[in-house]
Amino acid sequence: MASAARTVLVTGASRGLGLEFVKQLAARGDRVIAACRNPGAVPELKAMGAGVRAAALDVSDPLSIKSFVADLGGEGVDVLINNAGLMGEDNRVGAMKLEEMRRIFDVNTFGPALMTQAVLPNLIKGQRKLVVNITSTLGSISAGMPGMSYAYCASKAALNKISAKLAWDLKSMGIIVVSMCPGWNKTDMGGGSAPLEPKDSIGRILTMMDTFGLADSGTFRREDGAVVPF
Ligand SMILES: NC(=O)c1ccc[n+]([C@@H]2O[C@H](COP(=O)([O-])OP(=O)(O)OC[C@H]3O[C@@H](n4cnc5c(N)ncnc54)[C@H](OP(=O)(O)O)[C@@H]3O)[C@@H](O)[C@H]2O)c1
Repeated sequence: MASAARTVLVTGASRGLGLEFVKQLAARGDRVIAACRNPGAVPELKAMGAGVRAAALDVSDPLSIKSFVADLGGEGVDVLINNAGLMGEDNRVGAMKLEEMRRIFDVNTFGPALMTQAVLPNLIKGQRKLVVNITSTLGSISAGMPGMSYAYCASKAALNKISAKLAWDLKSMGIIVVSMCPGWNKTDMGGGSAPLEPKDSIGRILTMMDTFGLADSGTFRREDGAVVPF
């Protein structure tokens, strides 16, 4: 059964998985707020019609978050998908650099935390009351694998803790918060050897998202439905 039309806010909507979320949400009739750093540079968003509203947002900049939320003007938001993310190149001891690590945490960890906090009044007004934080299995302390960026993996582990805390704190308001790993996908971040196509992963995530209730809040899931250990 198709779900009722929702207002869904997607961050990092300019390309990759974020743009795929916007395409599929718009195709099923949801109203989409497609937030990205430079909406004017994304012609696909303009071409998607009246159901998609592009808006400027840099999730690593508190002033940008403030002005984005002011422009929302108290509109209800049913679902917030904190998707924007940044990979690092510090994948070995000796390659870590403080400024780069801070930049990655700003986008991957502090961005979703501050966005959820800023959009909370809008989520309370919305009907669905769902926050999905796009994380990675690389951020799992018990199931992560060796290699890959120190800052990226650690920033996603910290995001998972933020998600778990938000889930506890927002449950009494009926707000569901889920950590979701999209799997390894063919995007600029995932690269051409990735086994998954964004259209398939995002399709599965949207189907799963429709089923989430308060009992799922605080869980860590993968696009194939698996529960990932923290
Ligand atoms: N692809 C994978 O295999 C994979 C696996 C696990 C998890 N993930 C997660 O999935 C999410 C999407 O990844 P992707 O593969 O689509 O990556 P991508 O192709 O590199 O796209 C990243 C998106 O994040 C945006 N972004 C970066 N910094 C931002 C900022 N400061 N403010 C707002 N937006 C910002 C980019 O915007 P610009 O165009 O402006 O740069 C772009 O829209 C990320 O959270 C990533 O960690 C991906």
